[in-house]
Amino acid sequence: EKQGFKHYMLKEIYEQPGVFRAGLASYISENDHLKLGLPKGFVERIERVEIIACGTSWHASLVGKYLLEQIAGVPTSVQYASEYRYSPPPSLSNTLVIGVTQSGETADTLAALELAKLRGDRCLGITNRVESSIGRIADAVIDTQAGIEIGVAATKTFIAQLLMFYILALEFGITKGSLSSERSQELIDGLRQLPAYMERILESQERYIEELSRQFTHTKDFIFLGRGINFPIALEGALKLKEISYIHAEGYPAGEMKHGPIALLDEDVPVVAIATPGSVYEKVLSNSQEAKARDAKLIGVAPLDDPAAHEVFDYILPIPVVDEIFSPILTVIPLQLLAYHVAAHRGLDVDQPRNLAKSVTVE
Ligand code: M6R
Repeated sequence: EKQGFKHYMLKEIYEQPGVFRAGLASYISENDHLKLGLPKGFVERIERVEIIACGTSWHASLVGKYLLEQIAGVPTSVQYASEYRYSPPPSLSNTLVIGVTQSGETADTLAALELAKLRGDRCLGITNRVESSIGRIADAVIDTQAGIEIGVAATKTFIAQLLMFYILALEFGITKGSLSSERSQELIDGLRQLPAYMERILESQERYIEELSRQFTHTKDFIFLGRGINFPIALEGALKLKEISYIHAEGYPAGEMKHGPIALLDEDVPVVAIATPGSVYEKVLSNSQEAKARDAKLIGVAPLDDPAAHEVFDYILPIPVVDEIFSPILTVIPLQLLAYHVAAHRGLDVDQPRNLAKSVTVE
């Protein structure tokens, strides 16, 4: 049931703080012990991680790579499952291969994971459907516990996948001793603060984004920019917009703009930049400035009270300032709302976009 929401997608966007809170309660005990439930010794001897996925799950995996490398120091690669299955990387010992799939039925992801299993790699599945086919292939499965997602556009399952990667990175960091207990405590405390911030964004921004979206009803192209941990969120913002609104959208790492895509910009191509305080904040602001100089309309997912951001952006979708490492959990929400409202203004069937299926069970 849609419970008063016009579409399942909007309902599922609103379910995200609850999904995150419940996931935290399931996987981190009150006295801060991790409870992923992996078999004993599962991550101990692992030296590298390869992640395979498609679509939005692939974007979550890119954030996962950032977390596994930056939190736990584990070298991680991410490949599209449809590529991995025909050109797998050289087989190395002590590799954990993680297949990430909301549905657990994506044909390419299953085939790629099966291949990894045949090669003798340890295999982990991250899925929202533990009873699905991935459960039969993987040596262990982590249940994202987001509840059934009906909208074809993945939203709450994406947030739940991200949470699993935070917890997995903590698990690796603690087991391998690469994470100090102070930092691990800081990360756990930080995760617990996020649901309230997510709620605040939903409460304070939806009206504004609905209004703002109206002016993009006839827009033909969008560019999304991000860097570091928010580069995958730029990709995700672009994918959400294209799949439900049918507007052409591209996500780019902001620093790559000048190597080609900047030629696309003019007053008809809005640019959405994710600019959150942290290691690349000033860089993203200056990349955005370059876009502005080409007359592009600039929308910033940025802190509300920084004059530097106000100077660059025509519109700000404000997000609370948190440790950069948590920012994707917050920055993705305004982008989901933007995609949703643009598509809704265009009168499209948001929950059942053309040519797409909720799970892609054929190659
Ligand atoms: O079920 P999966 O997570 O394996 O699905 C992967 C993609 O098909 C999926 O994420 C697709 O890109 C979504 N429609 C995105 O919203």
